[in-house]
Formats: sequence, C-alpha cells, structure tokens
Amino acid sequence: MTKKRVLTGVTTTGIPHLGNYVGAIRPAIRASQNENTESFLFLADYHGIIKCHDPETIHQSTQAVAATWLACGLDPERTTFYRQSDIPEILELNWILTCITAKGLMNRAHAYKAAVQDNLDKDQEDQDHQIEMGLYSYPILMSADILMFNAHDVPVGRDQIQHVEMARDIAGRFNHRFKELFVLPEAKIEEHVETLVGLDGRKMSKSYGNTIPLFETEKKLQKSVNKIITNLKEPGEPKEPGESPLFEIYKAFATEQETQEFTRMLAEGLAWGEAKKILGAKLNEELAPKRERYNELTANPAQIEDILQAGAARARKEARILLDKVRDAVGIRALK
Ligand code: ADP
Ligand code: TRP
Repeated sequence: MTKKRVLTGVTTTGIPHLGNYVGAIRPAIRASQNENTESFLFLADYHGIIKCHDPETIHQSTQAVAATWLACGLDPERTTFYRQSDIPEILELNWILTCITAKGLMNRAHAYKAAVQDNLDKDQEDQDHQIEMGLYSYPILMSADILMFNAHDVPVGRDQIQHVEMARDIAGRFNHRFKELFVLPEAKIEEHVETLVGLDGRKMSKSYGNTIPLFETEKKLQKSVNKIITNLKEPGEPKEPGESPLFEIYKAFATEQETQEFTRMLAEGLAWGEAKKILGAKLNEELAPKRERYNELTANPAQIEDILQAGAARARKEARILLDKVRDAVGIRALK
C-alpha cells in the first residue's frame, strides 16, 4: 500500500504563535506519527521574503520555526524536514507551473485581493500600487511546494484553504494538458479549531504583531492572555462564547467536555479575569514541556542546521525524480 503523504509549511516571518500551532503544526505532527503516513514538513523561507524584507527577521525566524517544529515532536528520522530554499527543484517546478497557471486564477487569490482593496480604500489611482509579483504569484509557489512531493493531505488553518484549492486546480490543469503526474491535494482542517483572533481583533498573524507567541515564559504567556479583548461585562453577568476571542483559543486546546464546562461557567457569570487564568493554565499545561525543549534547541543552532541539511538531501532526491518526469512531459529533455 502506498503511504498517504502529508505536507505543510510555516512561513519564516516571525515567532510561531498559538494560531500556527493549532492550525498547522499540531495536526501535522500528529499525522506524521501515524504509521500509514509519510510526511514532509518545512520552513517556507521563500514565502517569508514575500511579506518581510528585513533579513534579520527572516534569519531569526528560520531558527525559531525550525526549533518549534522539533520541540513540538517532529521526529527527523520519520519525517522529511527541510528548508524550502534548500530545494532548488521547487523553484524549477514553480516556473513550469507559472507557465500553465491562468492569470485570472491569481487575480482571485485572497491575499492579492486584500492588497488591492487596501489601495482602493486609500483612493490610490493604481490599484496595484506597491504590490510585488511575489505576492501575486504566491499561490503558485505554494502549489510547487505541495505538488513537488505529491502530497495528498495538507494540514493548514482555514485561511489557507483557498491556496490548497488553487494547487489542486493547477495540478489538474497540468495532468490534463501534459501527463497525469500530480496527485490532487486536499486541505485538512481541524474541525474544532477556528482561525484564532489576535490581540488587536484581527486574525492572529506573525505579520500583524498581534500574536501570543508559543514559547514565551509562563509569566509572559499569562500576560499576553490577559491582553485578549473582552467586553465590559461584570463578574456574575452571563457571558456568551462569541463575546471574546479567548473562547476559541480555549476550545482549540481543550477536550469537548472541558469546552462545555467552560461554556457553562461563562453562562453562569465567570469573571473575564478568572476565565483568563483558566485559559493561561490550560495553555501552559500543553506547552510547558515543549517550551523546555525549545529553549534547549535554540541554544544550539548548528545542531538544527545539521538536521535541516540531512532533511534537504532526502527531499532533493525525492524531488528530482518527479521533476525529471515533469520536464520530460513538457518537452525539456536531452537531444539524442
Ligand atoms: P502567519 O499568518 O502567522 O504568518 P503562516 O502564514 O506562517 O502564519 O501560517 C502557517 C500555518 O498556520 C498555516 O497553515 C496557517 O493557516 C496557520 N495559521 C496562521 N495563523 C492562524 C490563526 N490565526 N489561526 C489558525 N491557524 C493559523
Ligand atoms: N502559505 C502558507 C502560509 O502562509 C505557508 C506555506 C507555504 C504552506 N507553502 C506551503 C502551507 C505548502 C502548506 C503547504 O500559511
């Protein structure tokens, strides 16, 4: 039986946060521990330079994201773990896919559309003002990441579903026009996990500086939790889950039963301050052992680099086989 392939990446634009963990890292690690899967987990640093033009941030984030994957239980013996930019085959595939991707498909990508909307809202004459080609073509690079290893399942947060659907679309187009070489990938979403909201009320994202970082100290973690937006309801007043983003965070870390209990306590008037203490303790329970390992790992970056290089060698070997078939299918081959 061929094993199911699971693949996902995290962009290297900052320090991983609770949203990255519950949306992608935790489900991907769980899937990688299943006997019947083969997993490809990586640091999306070429995606990083789309959104972030500060070299130091990219560099530091690469270390933080790598240490996070390892601290959360990624076993580099079982998983192909690599840095995107160490696999030049991905960029070659990226170009071939660019040549068959409809421009109209990219016009519909939500990150690009949001940037255009931002220009329109600011009454910019040019709707593409300051929008770079990297952002525009971002879903093609993400497709190359996924298709390069013929992944079946892509664990991602809800904000990435559209991109995985685009990868599916592009794979189908290639298969139809040239040769059936690509698996059609599927986004895998955790049912009980919503897109977590950050401290400013927008999506929690490394790009917005509104996150609760995964591995800050217990004290700082509680301090961040205390900053989560709530309303002015007093202790004793009944509260609904939808009244503060803290509920969805709790839900992402708790069992169904614990979530029901928390809902009941809020309805019975639990004070927001108390709710935050309960949330802080819940987070710490899951994160504390991983935090310790994270701190050990970040103290030894050379060891992380060795792991990444070993992973890259494995990934490249795999990538080469498919890329040669792809090149051949489009007519790029030796003369004889
Ligand atoms: P960021 O927006 O923080 O830069 P990435 O783009 O690196 O995050 O996303 C890495 C993974 O984490 C993706 O699968 C994404 O869907 C998931 N993710 C990011 N933010 C959140 C969030 N707020 N809630 C749930 N999942 C998220
Ligand atoms: N674009 C994803 C994000 O910003 C990160 C990413 C890059 C990714 N390549 C990928 C996720 C391939 C899954 C599969 O969240």
